[in-house]
Amino acid sequence: MDLWALADLRTPWCLHVAVTLRIAEHIAAGREEIGALAGAASCDATMLGLVLTHLAHAGVFEEPEPGRFRLNEAARQLLEPGARSGLDLDGFGGRMAHAWSTLLTLVRTGKPAYRDVFGRPFWEDLDAHPEIGAAFDALMGPGHGTPDADFPLAGGWEAVRTVTDVGGGTGAMLAEILRARPWIRGTLVDLPRAAAASAETFRAAGVSDRARAVGQSFFDPLPAGDDVYLLRGVINDWPDPEAAAILRRCAEAAQVVGGRVVVLKSVSPDERPAEIQIETVLLGGRQRTLGEFRTLAAGCGLEVAAAGRQKSGASFVECRPEACATDTAR
Ligand SMILES: C[S@@+](CC[C@H](N)C(=O)[O-])C[C@H]1O[C@@H](n2cnc3c(N)ncnc32)[C@H](O)[C@@H]1O
Repeated sequence: MDLWALADLRTPWCLHVAVTLRIAEHIAAGREEIGALAGAASCDATMLGLVLTHLAHAGVFEEPEPGRFRLNEAARQLLEPGARSGLDLDGFGGRMAHAWSTLLTLVRTGKPAYRDVFGRPFWEDLDAHPEIGAAFDALMGPGHGTPDADFPLAGGWEAVRTVTDVGGGTGAMLAEILRARPWIRGTLVDLPRAAAASAETFRAAGVSDRARAVGQSFFDPLPAGDDVYLLRGVINDWPDPEAAAILRRCAEAAQVVGGRVVVLKSVSPDERPAEIQIETVLLGGRQRTLGEFRTLAAGCGLEVAAAGRQKSGASFVECRPEACATDTAR
């Protein structure tokens, strides 16, 4: 194994710089010569040339003659909006890239150090910088792959009348659930920024008449009495004390009607997660094994009733408040 290749930061940084300077867009607009590209991007032609030649050698862009650059298949991907916001050092991509520099502090202390670099914890930082918050929402939103709303529920979906999507972002998952099951009504709970943006998602999916959004913290009491409380990609954001507080709020709200809590994309049901996640660096959370999650949930009055993977490969765990749990637990 080539250790130096593994540790090499040159290509990732060159890619981030090329995206931030919109080089692919300038080439697509007909500028191929390095002087014209540097002029359009307001940067130094010699330094930009070094970056683009490096990228061309790495397989992104072509350099048919010295100082002239063209798009190839890999470079064309940089024109996609997701790549643009995910890699732009002046925007959300910069937050993610620089957040990795806090990994050593995280490992030394066990606590996320995002605030040390950006002045605020992650979610507050998104609120303070609306354009970065909007880029995050877009990466989570409908354009970022169709959410897999087809997870199994014990007893089937037919008996489900109401769903609350807790930390539901801008509503992509809830909209998909409501679109596929016209008898269900839904509530989205998220911070005010994301909750406000969900109105457009519900409208576009044609489900506004059955969806409402509540802008509040999930650490506060949740709207109570729904059949299903969904947590998708939320529990893995948080360390144990906060993850437990969120689960407790869901258990409290679900037990009113003998409802259940469904946790998606946060628990590894069959293996120990192999890769460290960006959520760990940003927030101190992590993917938990099913055993770890079972223990955490039990401390919050929730019993794991079923666990597995959706067709998409994403994990699901269905829990029942202990007061309501039957002997279906496996
Ligand atoms: C990783 S995103 C997951 C979004 C969505 N569930 C999905 O699967 O795309 C986590 C969500 O938690 C929300 N969030 C963070 N802190 C929150 C809080 N204190 N109360 C409510 N929502 C919060 C964020 O705004 C964000 O939408």
